[in-house]
Amino acid sequence: MKVVSVINYKGGVGKTSLTANLAAELAFRGKRILVMDLDAQASLTFSFIKPDEWQNSFASSKTIKTWFDESDGGAQISLKDLCHKPERVNSALPHDSTLDIIPSHLGLINVDLELATRLGGANLSQSKKNFISVHRMLADGLDDIRATGLYDIVLIDCPPNFNIVTKTAIIASDYILVPTRPDELSTLGIDYLMRSIGELLKDYNDYVKVVSNDSKDFDEISPIVVGVVFTMVQEYAGEPMSAQKTYIKKLQTESDLAIFDSYIKRNDTVFAESPVYGVPVVLNSYSNVSHQSVVDGLEAVATEFLEKLGE
Ligand SMILES: Nc1ncnc2c1ncn2[C@@H]1O[C@H](COP(=O)(O)OP(=O)(O)OP(=O)(O)O)[C@@H](O)[C@H]1O
Ligand SMILES: [Mg+2]
Repeated sequence: MKVVSVINYKGGVGKTSLTANLAAELAFRGKRILVMDLDAQASLTFSFIKPDEWQNSFASSKTIKTWFDESDGGAQISLKDLCHKPERVNSALPHDSTLDIIPSHLGLINVDLELATRLGGANLSQSKKNFISVHRMLADGLDDIRATGLYDIVLIDCPPNFNIVTKTAIIASDYILVPTRPDELSTLGIDYLMRSIGELLKDYNDYVKVVSNDSKDFDEISPIVVGVVFTMVQEYAGEPMSAQKTYIKKLQTESDLAIFDSYIKRNDTVFAESPVYGVPVVLNSYSNVSHQSVVDGLEAVATEFLEKLGE
């Protein structure tokens, strides 16, 4: 089971749309997929589950918030009890497909504050232990899911910030996937994101040695950056328009990160509609040529993603 975090702390760059479409396309191709929504905005959740269904059937006890809340000692529920098969997208998939979701909750924002209070310690050694136990929460929680053998790939949709919940996703991940828009501010943010991830991993790997000497034995970790995917690309004559091309070229030449050759095209109509129907764009087929070319681009991104994962 491979765990992939979709992250960029720049808002609105297409993280959630990429997660939903990648999940749907990979499930269509026979991969067994679980998506986890770690964003308090719950956009991924509402892309698959209708708000009134979420309110009636999930809000009180079946979201990732419940899991974080109950992981504070007490009777702990298992992440595997939160996996839900959303109906509308699954009815658009072949009947033996697997696409499940662990939904988020608008109150997840408070979980971060609660986790922060658990980080302190009476001395340095205790703080390091607390750092590891808080940051490993999701990694350990996912062991239950791994043990079921039900999923090939877990995609985690991260919020546009670098709070503790986001950090637990990075620590739990084998891979990191970074969507970005081809513009100045979005591409600048990638450098900063990479530095923050580097610092988190350095602290984790330092502290884990201390904790491991003690009672438990944890390995150092080094999640792989699968690459940067450009989103919302506007084409002109079959190519990214020149202003965007500048940023794509710049990142390709200046960054040592892998950059996807394929990209997600911008189309306000199809992306605005899809959450209403609960079925990501990539599973639709369109008679309109420009709409269909959006689907082709998404499929190409999925193919490249699988190659990069060695799947
Ligand atoms: N390729 C696209 N073309 C046009 N609109 C898009 C495209 N991808 C996403 N959008 C729209 O842009 C908005 C932001 O997309 P999305 O929610 O995927 O970004 P995000 O990075 O997850 O945002 P946040 O940081 O708030 O979590 C949404 O309204 C979505 O429908
Ligand atoms: Mg999002």
